[in-house]
Amino acid sequence: MKLAVAGTGYVGLVAGVCFAEVGHQVLCIDVDNKKIEMLKNGISPIYEQDLEELMVKNYNAGRLDYSTDYKKAYRDADAIFIGVGTPEQPDGSANMTYVANVARQIAETVEKDCLVVVKSTVPVGTNDKVEQFIKDALLKDVNIEVASNPEFLAQGTAVRDTLHAARIIIGTESKKAEKILREIYAPFNLPIVSVSRRSAEMIKYASNDFLALKISYMNDIANLCELVGANIQDVAKGMSFDSRIGEKFLNAGIGYGGSCFPKDTKALKWLAEQNNYELKTIKAAIDVNEAQKVSLFKKACKRLITFSGLKVAVLGLTFKPGTDDLREAPSLDNVPLLLEQGADIYAYDPVGMDNFKKKYSEGIIYTNSVQEALKNAQVCFIFTEWQEFKDIRPEEFKEWMRTALIYDGRNLFDLKEMQSAGVEYYSVGRSL
Ligand code: UDX
Repeated sequence: MKLAVAGTGYVGLVAGVCFAEVGHQVLCIDVDNKKIEMLKNGISPIYEQDLEELMVKNYNAGRLDYSTDYKKAYRDADAIFIGVGTPEQPDGSANMTYVANVARQIAETVEKDCLVVVKSTVPVGTNDKVEQFIKDALLKDVNIEVASNPEFLAQGTAVRDTLHAARIIIGTESKKAEKILREIYAPFNLPIVSVSRRSAEMIKYASNDFLALKISYMNDIANLCELVGANIQDVAKGMSFDSRIGEKFLNAGIGYGGSCFPKDTKALKWLAEQNNYELKTIKAAIDVNEAQKVSLFKKACKRLITFSGLKVAVLGLTFKPGTDDLREAPSLDNVPLLLEQGADIYAYDPVGMDNFKKKYSEGIIYTNSVQEALKNAQVCFIFTEWQEFKDIRPEEFKEWMRTALIYDGRNLFDLKEMQSAGVEYYSVGRSL
């Protein structure tokens, strides 16, 4: 099938590459000329495992191409996927400007019947509006339908998550649209759940928000564990054997970040408010998360008189390992607080430093290794669970730092081992 994909961010690019990988003819569209040139040269604008390899393979095979020329792409496409961003607005609602721009371009360009598939996460009811919007602006007498097809990829494992997704959700209002989407996804050989457009839109939010809720719940319980002398990791392990609970997303820590959970929880809360309904569970998840992100810093403030003049090592800047993405990363909440308090920050992250430098070019010393960051440090904060941090031996903290005082937002180390090595160690939901 001939497919066009609008937007070459996480959603669009990964979808486009994976569609090509299963044999479709794909043209990816973006307004950014520089990005398109990079992509043509096999360079991915995002750090994502396996992505560049598949980009090059499919580009060379002639199944995948990139262009700024949307007219060429949309004119005779069998299906056009919209994968542009829907950034959060101050009131929590999603910004629809980019989706609307693409919809307008489609309406002005298509020359044959076509299925428009919205992959971007959009508030329930948006796809109805997108369809009407396109129909109202159509220049040619063609039949356009809009379908919802949310994605569930996680950053760092985006390609694998797409090629081996747990399920494909398709939301359509006609048998014809359902048939086209089933055909597009047939080569993936994955379970397909076919529902109405609005239900598909809701499945995306309900899934993400459920996971965010699960994390906030564990963080809440972790905080209580600290107060009553229980260990959250043992508690999580005990819970995980119940298949109704499951073993995933039970890790307490420094709160969830990233491009989805913070945005999607606020968007669903906003949607509920628009409908005069208070979504109490999601509101609680948001509140717990906000507090959790700075809980370690607060803990440290109780222990120290001041950060002023202290050498503080910060390990991990990205919101999770395997990505250079900083969106809603806990480091962004904590680093400004530390700077405000006069800390001398020595930061290290395997891939996130270039992006962090764009926000904080001054006031932070970026180091080339874990050891360099820890050398003579008086306090260390761990914000991301990169493998190189897990590999630090407790004795190394003691050996490298001036005072081995650690605040670990990811529960990476064994409490007893840290104690035996003479490290003063604080983590989340655990104490000896
Ligand atoms: C998430 C969803 O997993 C994905 O299905 C959706 O399409 C987009 O949002 P992503 O944001 O890439 O993906 O990362 P994910 O691995 O889900 O982690 C999100 C955040 O939750 C991270 O900050 C992570 O550190 C945190 N998290 C995750 C926890 O704090 N505890 C956990 O047990 C799991």
